[in-house]
Amino acid sequence: DKGAYDYFMLKEIHEQPKTIEETFRGRLQNDYSEIVLGGLLNVFPKIEAAKRIVIIGCGTSWHAGLIAEYLFEEYAQVSVEVEYASEFRYRKPVLSSDDVVILISQSGETADTLAALELAKSKGATVLGICNVVGSTLSRETEAGVYTHAGVEIGVASTKAFTAQVTVLTMIALKLAKRKGTISNETYKVLVKELAEIPEKGRAILDDGEKIKAIAEKYHEAVNALYLGRGYLFPVALEGALKLKEISYIHAEGYAAGEMKHGPIALVDNNLPVVVVAPQDDYYEKVVSNIQEVKARKGNVIAIVTEGDKGLKEMVNDVIEIPKSHPAVAPLLAVIPLQLLAYHIALLKGCNVDQPRNLAKSVTVE
Ligand code: M6R
Repeated sequence: DKGAYDYFMLKEIHEQPKTIEETFRGRLQNDYSEIVLGGLLNVFPKIEAAKRIVIIGCGTSWHAGLIAEYLFEEYAQVSVEVEYASEFRYRKPVLSSDDVVILISQSGETADTLAALELAKSKGATVLGICNVVGSTLSRETEAGVYTHAGVEIGVASTKAFTAQVTVLTMIALKLAKRKGTISNETYKVLVKELAEIPEKGRAILDDGEKIKAIAEKYHEAVNALYLGRGYLFPVALEGALKLKEISYIHAEGYAAGEMKHGPIALVDNNLPVVVVAPQDDYYEKVVSNIQEVKARKGNVIAIVTEGDKGLKEMVNDVIEIPKSHPAVAPLLAVIPLQLLAYHIALLKGCNVDQPRNLAKSVTVE
């Protein structure tokens, strides 16, 4: 039931404050001083001992994996590889019983992800699942795992499942870091608190969501779009571009902002919308200079900025504000305006937002 919403996608975007909360409910305990992930209790010693963690998924689930790479490396100090399931399954990956493989899938039925799971198992690796659909093949075939509690996701474009995946991965990274002693108690507390505050901040973005409609009006006739971000927000740029292309059929590319001058800058002209995820974090100055490079070539910049950022407002064509947060949890907020932008643009183009052409919700064939 779509309730008051025109499309399931819009409903699911709006459910995110609740679904993120559902995903950490009961897991962030004792005034958020402890993270309890029952499903991983027995395998944590193995995860702790792992020299390397391999994360596998497709599409949006792969993007969640990319964010986890930053989290696991920064806080748990373990090296991470993130792989497309469709590539991994046909490579000759070097894996052994020392490795931990985390498979991410909303449906738990994606053919490539399940094939990657079998391959990892056959090499003796510890296989873990992050999955939304209870009782799905992935959840049955993995040794252990954590469910995302996003509820049923109907829109083909994944939204609330993504933020639930990122929530789970953040909890795993922090818990692992705590167990390994690679995070200070202070940073741990700060991050858990920041995670717990996401639902409220997400609500603030959604309450202001109508503004994004006006931005969509300006750009819905574009044929190409570029999405840029750095650090934790590079995967968010990829995810924003995927959302736009899958539901509005506008060709969109996500790029690490620092890579722009190695190719995509050639595309910039006054017809190109460039969506830049530019909150005030450690990369801010660098991202601002990337924005200047785009502006100097007459590109149209839509910037996702930290609330109250006046400087960027003057420099770019359009801004969408998000509440201030710690960089490690910023993807959970920054992705929301990108989902809404894709939604409104697709709507203006008359596309079937919930069921885009040529796509299936769950890709159970190769
Ligand atoms: O069910 P899964 O998470 O395994 O699905 C993976 C991809 O097929 C999925 O994320 C796809 O890219 C979405 N349509 C993106 O919005």
